[in-house]
Amino acid sequence: SENRTMHINADKSPLQVFVRAKKKINDIYVEIEEYVAETTTFINALHAEAEIVDKAERELFESYVLKVAGIREVLARDHMKVAFFGRTSNGKSSVINAMLREKILPSGIGHTTNCFCQVEGSDSSEAYLMKEGSEEKLNVVNIKQLANALCQEKLSESSLVRIFWPRERCNLLRDDVVFVDSPGVDVSANLDDWIDNHCLNADVFVLVLNAESTMTRAEKQFFHTVSQKLSKPNIFILNNRWDASANEPESQESELDKVRSQHTERCIDFLTKELKVTNEKEAAERVFFVSAREALQARIEEAKGNSPSQGAIAEGFHARYFEFQDFERKFEECISKSAVQTKFEKHSSRGKTLSGDMRSMLDNIYERITIFRNLKLDQKTLLSERIQGTETEMMNVTREMKLKIHNMVEEVEQKVSKALNEEI
Ligand code: GTP
Ligand code: MG
Repeated sequence: SENRTMHINADKSPLQVFVRAKKKINDIYVEIEEYVAETTTFINALHAEAEIVDKAERELFESYVLKVAGIREVLARDHMKVAFFGRTSNGKSSVINAMLREKILPSGIGHTTNCFCQVEGSDSSEAYLMKEGSEEKLNVVNIKQLANALCQEKLSESSLVRIFWPRERCNLLRDDVVFVDSPGVDVSANLDDWIDNHCLNADVFVLVLNAESTMTRAEKQFFHTVSQKLSKPNIFILNNRWDASANEPESQESELDKVRSQHTERCIDFLTKELKVTNEKEAAERVFFVSAREALQARIEEAKGNSPSQGAIAEGFHARYFEFQDFERKFEECISKSAVQTKFEKHSSRGKTLSGDMRSMLDNIYERITIFRNLKLDQKTLLSERIQGTETEMMNVTREMKLKIHNMVEEVEQKVSKALNEEI
């Protein structure tokens, strides 16, 4: 029954918006593919029999088949991407691990992230990793081995290691979220390359700060560049290590509140006045005070069947853990909405263009057949019965195809708009 509960909860996840939209658009493309295949057969027959369709036209139509196949391929690979940035040791890798509910990425002293690490779901039941520029799947037997592999590799800081983790072990991976971990923004001189190579297709950015200090110039500068290259990126800010504040000897509640509201104000100002990526109301929903290390420990306890509070590091665990979960919820809503809009709107408008092109081409062919027929009818003495029969048949088939294509275009348009309206 525990499995069942997990399942029900998982399906209430806002990520399902993306998962459902992806399935719907894919189903629509399966239909388009069928229609295109059917029409191609017909066009080829016309070309062979009556030369009403010329070679160029036939080839053009075949290019539609390839285009549809291409879109389906991209669609199958579509995912939601979140990238984490911040100064070294602020807890970027720890936040990702807490979200994945398992210590997957190496973190802490001696495990500084020294290149980009992407964690994505895999259908295989064993984890493996792949280095940039290589197709070789390196088995990951355990976390320690993964950590060592990442340490020993002499990788350039802007290169990418992809870690494939069994989908079945984490709902976020199951639902096509891909995590990108980065080295500290303070240690790199190649921030522009980073952005060009790893950020342009990210749906959400998470800035991981250290709640014990203030935002640094490097952190600010990085996001200034991101927001110059992308229009209105979705940015969440985590003030991490919030547990440490509770441990301060002189930390009375009023003191903590003061620190918290100062940080909050600065973060909101940064998002609204400096970067101008959002408004005050939305920005207030994008700033959180959490403890990644504690959230991870809590989840590891939960997985063992213990109370999550056994992972507590300091006073005030419940509020911090709640806030971490609140962050995850808002993050899921934001990423699935954004990914549906940017990815599927493109696919559906391409689908519309494609079916529109096919329609006008078929209208054209139909017209030509009509002219051809009328011409032939004028010279009816010359026509044998057999030829006349073929032509009438051709007319009927063409009319039928034309109707089908018209219906298809309408259906696709309706379905796509409906799917998008339902989901957004
Ligand atoms: P780099 O990869 O070096 O850039 O660091 P990072 O940002 O990935 O930080 P990482 O997750 O490796 O965390 C650094 C250290 O801080 C580790 O020892 C973590 O256990 C610890 N840490 C991370 N988050 C928290 C937190 O919320 N509270 C406390 N107390 N410690 C934390
Ligand atoms: Mg790290």
